[in-house]
Amino acid sequence: MSKEKVLVTSALPYANGPIHLGHLSGAYLPADIYVRYKRLNGDDVLYICGSDEHGVPITITADKEKVSPQVIIDRFHNANKKAFEKFGMSFDNYSRTSLPIHHETAKEFFLEFYNRGLFIEKKSNQFYDEKAKMFLPDRYVEGTCPKCGNEQARSDECENCGSLYDPSELKNPKSKVSGGTPTLKETTHYFFPLGKYQPALEKYVDEMNEKYGWKDNVLQYCRGWFKDGLKERAITRDLDWGVKVPVDSAAGKVIYVWFEAVLGYISSIKEFSQLKNQPDLWKKYWHDVNTKYIAFIGKDNVVFHTIIFPAILMAWNEGNKEKYCLPQNVPANEFLNFEGKKFSKSRGWGIDVDEFLNLFPADLLRYTLAANLPETRDTDFYWKEFQLRNNSELADILGNFINRTFTFLHKHFDGKVPARGKLFKIDEDMLNEIGGYPSCVANLFEKFKIRDGVNEIMNLARDGNKYFNDSEPWVNVKSNKEKCGTTLNICLQAIYTLAELFYPVMPFSSEKLFKMLNAKPVEWKESSKSLLKEGHQINSAEILFPKIEDEVIEEQVSKLGNPEIESEKKQDELISYDDFMKTKLKVAEILSAEKITKSKKLMKLRVMLDDGERQLIAGIAEHYNPEDLVGKKVVVVANLQPAKLMGEESHGMILAVDKEPRGLQVLIVDDSVKVGTRVK
Ligand code: MF3
Ligand code: ZN
Repeated sequence: MSKEKVLVTSALPYANGPIHLGHLSGAYLPADIYVRYKRLNGDDVLYICGSDEHGVPITITADKEKVSPQVIIDRFHNANKKAFEKFGMSFDNYSRTSLPIHHETAKEFFLEFYNRGLFIEKKSNQFYDEKAKMFLPDRYVEGTCPKCGNEQARSDECENCGSLYDPSELKNPKSKVSGGTPTLKETTHYFFPLGKYQPALEKYVDEMNEKYGWKDNVLQYCRGWFKDGLKERAITRDLDWGVKVPVDSAAGKVIYVWFEAVLGYISSIKEFSQLKNQPDLWKKYWHDVNTKYIAFIGKDNVVFHTIIFPAILMAWNEGNKEKYCLPQNVPANEFLNFEGKKFSKSRGWGIDVDEFLNLFPADLLRYTLAANLPETRDTDFYWKEFQLRNNSELADILGNFINRTFTFLHKHFDGKVPARGKLFKIDEDMLNEIGGYPSCVANLFEKFKIRDGVNEIMNLARDGNKYFNDSEPWVNVKSNKEKCGTTLNICLQAIYTLAELFYPVMPFSSEKLFKMLNAKPVEWKESSKSLLKEGHQINSAEILFPKIEDEVIEEQVSKLGNPEIESEKKQDELISYDDFMKTKLKVAEILSAEKITKSKKLMKLRVMLDDGERQLIAGIAEHYNPEDLVGKKVVVVANLQPAKLMGEESHGMILAVDKEPRGLQVLIVDDSVKVGTRVK
């Protein structure tokens, strides 16, 4: 295959929190394996990433900590950059969208479109939080849907009934930022006419899919969007944190984070070019429409990389001689969960990359994640599986094959590669096997079937063990030393190929293995071609993959989650219908409510049930004003043993759900339901 010019990007992670194993599996490890493979293949590769440092979540985190957004992005940019390094990510550049070069790039695109009159300018009413002094993005407003009464509707759409409405129709709007009631204010925004590009985008997706085979999950997302019809999208926001809109009449506005974040892929290479003292180098990649551009992402980012970003680039290309290349493929992954549940920092579910790498070498994690990538469906990380893959694959198959070969060689051949004597069928078969691996694995990697490729490489180690067993060198060493030498020679060749093919997956171990072989990586497809000559001196062996003991894994499992989760787990056991019916859930009306002065969390409620009034103490004071609760019909556990909380008697419990980010939300039933009605 001729050499390709390849530009690879991984989604720019938000500098708003540490990366976890799920991120690695989604957009980073598969890209790194691909890139390392392409480099060994001799292709001209540039691999780019960086921190996404704008967006409302960052300012909210900053407000919570009472620091500036800069403090937050510095903290997480540095932490994530280090964690990626420790994990062996081989980015050519890891940039930041807060850099001037990025701001300039984003403004350049904005102005280009603005000056061409491409944007649509529209006035609209948006919720404004007087306390927080900010316009509220849709997901930070919650209220009651005017159509179906869903109390968790967004400012202009309800996920429950699917209706869209004007924000002025939303009932009881609440700001999730300050908790206060926001007001509507008129504001003007610029909209990008996405609909105008729909025909071109459909053609682009079809063409790319035909030529390069896009993944089904990605195509389905695109087709869904096309079917609904692309509409213009607001690409400005009323915020202070972000890239300022470079137009005088738009003071106080920034460019919508998604519009500029994708341009970070361009500015990151520009930065790289400057660092290399070749300021125009970036053009060699971006301004060549034949560049093979591959954008690795997780499934939540599909629309931005297959529709919005390509549309931006198309719009640029329409009016300019220097054209940008569009993504040739967007191999989006599904999600990785942790021990059966979503990763959740607040619930102590999961483990940070940095913490993980303080416990185990990066390659163990890389191999385990790679062998189980969520390429076609969500997958899980389990500690037990991590142990199993290490012990029974890396140690027992790969490590064992390497170890027995090296040990035997040092014992019987002075660590020198023996000559290859007369070849028998078993030897020829093995050589053919070895010879087939580089192209077989390359084909899988080229199709972004990274997981299959990785599992395939382990089969070569399996073949190696079988060949060693069947050839019985320990018998031949006494009776037929030439035959024994042939076996060892071929085993060493297999190890060479393994060192090369595993290099993209486990670069640290592979480098050690090359040192042990006293050899260097070669071009990918050459790696199965008998490179170790007779008499070549092999170095001493080291154990590459020690076993992981049960206690080590059990300790990690026991650390998982916080105590609340643990007790939840016990409650996960099934109960009988009768057990359930023992819990008397009834509808009660709240007659009065007051905060308990000594406590931040507790609220004292008087409620009416079918058998009269009673007092309940509920831990909801941080989430409700007492007056908002009076008159509401709620569900209570009516037959709970009484308890004393802060000196106050509680006769029952009120049902509520934990709803991020606001906190507890009491379950409220329709006013027409009679007090005392049993809930079952
Ligand atoms: N920060 C986004 C996320 O983590 C991804 C941004 S990708 C980019 O979901 F292309 F916009 F940079
Ligand atoms: Zn609704």
